[in-house]
Amino acid sequence: MQYTRLGSSDLKVSVIGIGAWQAGFKSWGKGYTREDLINSYRYAFENGINFIDTAEIYGYGKSEEIVGEAIKGYNDIVVATKVSGFRTSEDDIIKAAERSIRRLGVREIDLYQLHWPNPIYIDICKVIKRMEKTISEGYVRYIGLSNFTFKLLRKAYECTRKYDIISNQIQYSLVYRGYEIDLIPFMKRFKIGLIAYSPLGKGVLAGKTKPTSTAQRTSTIFHKASKDTILREKLEELSIKYGVTKAAVALRWIVDKGGIPIPGVKKIRHIDSILEAIKLRLREKDLKVLDEITSKYRENIETYPLIRFIPGTLQKVVFRLLGGL
Ligand SMILES: NC(=O)c1ccc[n+]([C@@H]2O[C@H](COP(=O)([O-])OP(=O)(O)OC[C@H]3O[C@@H](n4cnc5c(N)ncnc54)[C@H](OP(=O)(O)O)[C@@H]3O)[C@@H](O)[C@H]2O)c1
Repeated sequence: MQYTRLGSSDLKVSVIGIGAWQAGFKSWGKGYTREDLINSYRYAFENGINFIDTAEIYGYGKSEEIVGEAIKGYNDIVVATKVSGFRTSEDDIIKAAERSIRRLGVREIDLYQLHWPNPIYIDICKVIKRMEKTISEGYVRYIGLSNFTFKLLRKAYECTRKYDIISNQIQYSLVYRGYEIDLIPFMKRFKIGLIAYSPLGKGVLAGKTKPTSTAQRTSTIFHKASKDTILREKLEELSIKYGVTKAAVALRWIVDKGGIPIPGVKKIRHIDSILEAIKLRLREKDLKVLDEITSKYRENIETYPLIRFIPGTLQKVVFRLLGGL
């Protein structure tokens, strides 16, 4: 197994982790069970993968509960969860951390990430200070952010007083490369770890072309990339050449770029692809070709997180009615 340090922290994590949004059962269709997930997560742990990502909003706590059950009996799993961006007061953030700790069944959260930036009418420094408080109060070991674009991350970084922001979880894959322009160089410079979400473009980079779940149906990236025959053929060719799945090639490309992908898994065979990716060594010339044929995806303009314009109270009500994501 290959491990790496997460950002400036002393957390030692496998170079590829697991995403547990699928354990919320809201957005990812049917055809898999709680047992499938727990068996897959444990199979991953048995094989040395020690990093798992969840969030309070995934099925409004359901994903955290399933992760909590899966990690029972394992002492060395690094668990990352997220507090929703609509939580901005100290009381709300601390209470959310307490609930996550209870559902996960852990003593403290290894990495607590702010899931998305706070609404515009709230001072970002105040929120960062409250995130820092989760460490000083003993709920959390490290804090991280998610969906912070370059300017927002720079601002948040300047706000920290006592603790480092050790990571920023962002969308990053062969078909989503816009952040390479300014955000990723900034993160590298200040040792802020890159946790790459939707590393398979929500399944399209594993070879899927027809969406079967809400998460895929609503993804513009999925639709765009499913029509990219040049990329599909190249992934097919490389998967045959190296004797691995297309998913493994797509994940390895991220690792070679310095990111830690967290593919969303449902089945044991998905974990096998991760294990293949960890062992895989792509040749320099193949990496270069992948870079070239996906350079058009660097043109994704870094969009301002629009959710910042929706009042936190309204966000809360909507997510409550939806029963999470
Ligand atoms: N911070 C954020 O705002 C944010 C946003 C999105 C995701 N995330 C995190 O990132 C994780 C991953 O992102 P994601 O779930 O959006 O997208 P993803 O990992 O790119 O895609 C997941 C989907 O890919 C398919 N898949 C996975 N492994 C496969 C394999 N080896 N072979 C074939 N198909 C495979 C499955 O599709 P089928 O369902 O069709 O089987 C799975 O549901 C999430 O679980 C979550 O933890 C965070």
